[in-house]
Amino acid sequence: MVSDRIIVPLDVPTLEDAIALLDKLPQVSFWKVGLELFVGAGPEILKILNERQKRIFLDLKFHDIPNTVAGACRSATAYNVDLLTLHATAGRAALQAAAEAIAQEGSRPKLLAITLLTSLNSRELAFDLKIPLELPEYALQMAILAKESGIDGAVCSPHEVAQLRQVCSDNFLLVCPGVRPSWSDAGDQRRVMTPQAAIKAGANYLVIGRPITAAANPVEAWERICEELATVG
Ligand code: C5P
Repeated sequence: MVSDRIIVPLDVPTLEDAIALLDKLPQVSFWKVGLELFVGAGPEILKILNERQKRIFLDLKFHDIPNTVAGACRSATAYNVDLLTLHATAGRAALQAAAEAIAQEGSRPKLLAITLLTSLNSRELAFDLKIPLELPEYALQMAILAKESGIDGAVCSPHEVAQLRQVCSDNFLLVCPGVRPSWSDAGDQRRVMTPQAAIKAGANYLVIGRPITAAANPVEAWERICEELATVG
């Protein structure tokens, strides 16, 4: 079902706020839990999502030594998480350790690499981080490193998804935030794409937050996006 490809972020600080959002949008089957909510509410939110039979994208962006990253991934499997993020820049050994740590688990999460935070611009990449590559080239190299290390997919801008899809083959999962229907505000997202265009370009899943959660009528916004996506097939 096309609606299964839309992930809505629970971008709220408390458990109460998160439950209110879940209650407001019972149609949504796939939710993202990020650092703000996880630090604020703890794993309780994951138990609630499990009880409600929701799919979970746990977006904690692990970045540490191999042993620690592997342990964190193993711990996450206790909560029946579907997608889990870690930074590609943790390095090959950490990526491999993460993949190996959960390989034996029954219902293991798919691991997604963060290639490059989209908040970084080319100037910061060159002058602050001293990386002598253009942004898209760097993101691509990080995705290739992740794939070679046994990671299942990557989070990327919809503007990078076509190139990543071409280079990383069909079974590499690509998850895109920065998605905006033509009728909604871009907000602070700079390089946006419509849901239809992002799926056509090769995205498996879309993370769509404020166009739904901050809409005057969130259910209507959700249904409108689902209808528009259904035309993509
Ligand atoms: O409200 P909006 O649709 O912009 O929400 C996008 C979600 O995706 C937020 O939870 C944001 O933190 C996350 N995200 C992003 N860009 C990235 C990675 C994650 O917008 N590169």
